[in-house]
Amino acid sequence: MPLTNTATRYGAVTKTFHWLSALLIFTAFPLGWLASSLAERIADPAISSTDIDLARATTLFSLHKTIGVSLFTVAILRILWTLAQPKPGLLNGDERTEAWLAETVHWLLYGSLVLVPLTGWIHHAAADGFAPIWWPFGQSLPFIPKSPSLSELFSTLHFVFQLVLAGAIALHVAGALKHHLIERDATLRRMLFSGTSGMPTTAQPSHLVSVLSALVIWAGALGAGGAAGLFSPHTPPATTAALQAVESDWQVENGTLSLTATQLGHPVTGSFADWTASITYAEDLTADRNGAVKVTVSIPSLTLGSVTAQAMGPDYFDADSFVTAVFEADILRDGDDLRADGTLTIKDHSVPISLPFVLDVQDDTATASGQVTLDRRAFGIGAKVEDEGTLAFSVLVEFTLVAHKAP
Ligand code: HEM
Ligand code: HEM
Repeated sequence: MPLTNTATRYGAVTKTFHWLSALLIFTAFPLGWLASSLAERIADPAISSTDIDLARATTLFSLHKTIGVSLFTVAILRILWTLAQPKPGLLNGDERTEAWLAETVHWLLYGSLVLVPLTGWIHHAAADGFAPIWWPFGQSLPFIPKSPSLSELFSTLHFVFQLVLAGAIALHVAGALKHHLIERDATLRRMLFSGTSGMPTTAQPSHLVSVLSALVIWAGALGAGGAAGLFSPHTPPATTAALQAVESDWQVENGTLSLTATQLGHPVTGSFADWTASITYAEDLTADRNGAVKVTVSIPSLTLGSVTAQAMGPDYFDADSFVTAVFEADILRDGDDLRADGTLTIKDHSVPISLPFVLDVQDDTATASGQVTLDRRAFGIGAKVEDEGTLAFSVLVEFTLVAHKAP
């Protein structure tokens, strides 16, 4: 069989590209749907999930992404090949509406071969806490920062573009079957490896009109997605009011309280937006005890990459039943070293914690930062996930703050 196309038939290379990309797409679709519906169930705080569910969703996503990235590579090669080849004309180019539809759908398919995997890939590269691509490259992409809002935007674009692709495939297959079964012409046979050539009509649809039609369809799909609210930023429902302000000798002006968990070998960092600290502190180089601190943290104010909802669920922080975590400690001095020794209560588990920190006091302004590594099992967090590879036991908690001495 000749490798290259002529004006009347497809060559073996075009046919191989065509059926290989069809195979990859028909594999990627069910994997994407299955993985997404399983991930939705896992993220649903009302449904209890195990590490088997998590491992299954991860495998499905990794397979989906790996096949998707393979398709992207095949697509680029296919498009370059198509550009270098003669294109066999349509066999019914003189039937204007049908020919316009067929060519518009071909443009939608070519565009989707790039847009669908690329939006999925950018969504992946911008996200924290993901199922890895099983390729040696591509976990991150150049110019794509880790950003939850960027990742969410591209997740929506991926969703909209895969719907357009699904619609285009349905029309494309229906057209191919109509040619084969009703018109009984050589359109489908000429794409098969055993196939023949066919004589295209002299009249052929305008590429410009078909390209513009495809662009209008993509724009319409994005507009419909916007009207349906798909592009509105997703803000988790506020389950509690903000914490009350507390009396404190030192008023915290600003600060961060973050945690880093390790999911599937990758660090996922998140932070609590709402917490209060009541601090007494008086530097006394001769005394062990220099003050005390009580930190109250609003659990629902945590944002943790793509697994925020999951973290709120009954198996993790159980935010519906335990709205706050509390750390109460004495500020102890050992020479120049400071630490807060006390009890951290998360859910109904109270655990003794020693948190070393550094402090710099200039006039009435104090700057402090510190970190401590906790074992999530001590607090009954993710108790059903016993596999360290899925979710490591150690969780790093870090804080920074600037506080002013109350007058
Ligand atoms: C042939 C190419 C691809 C097709 C046809 C495809 C299709 C799909 C489908 C049907 C879904 C489910 C959408 C839903 O029901 O919510 C999905 C989700 C997803 N896909 Fe793809 N995909 C492709 C390539 C990729 C690639 C290359 C990546 C990343 C490297 C990727 C990453 C994802 C992710 C992360 C989701 C979950 C969406 C979310 O969390 O919002 N996909 N994809
Ligand atoms: C699912 C993914 C598929 C994609 C992305 C796809 C894409 C394309 C594209 C872009 C073309 C135009 C080729 C060109 O002339 O440059 C084409 C042609 C063709 N496809 Fe597909 N296709 C898919 C699946 C299928 C399936 C399942 C069938 C059969 C039922 C099919 C039958 C055909 C036929 C017969 C042609 C030639 C049309 C003609 O000669 O005018 N395709 N395909």
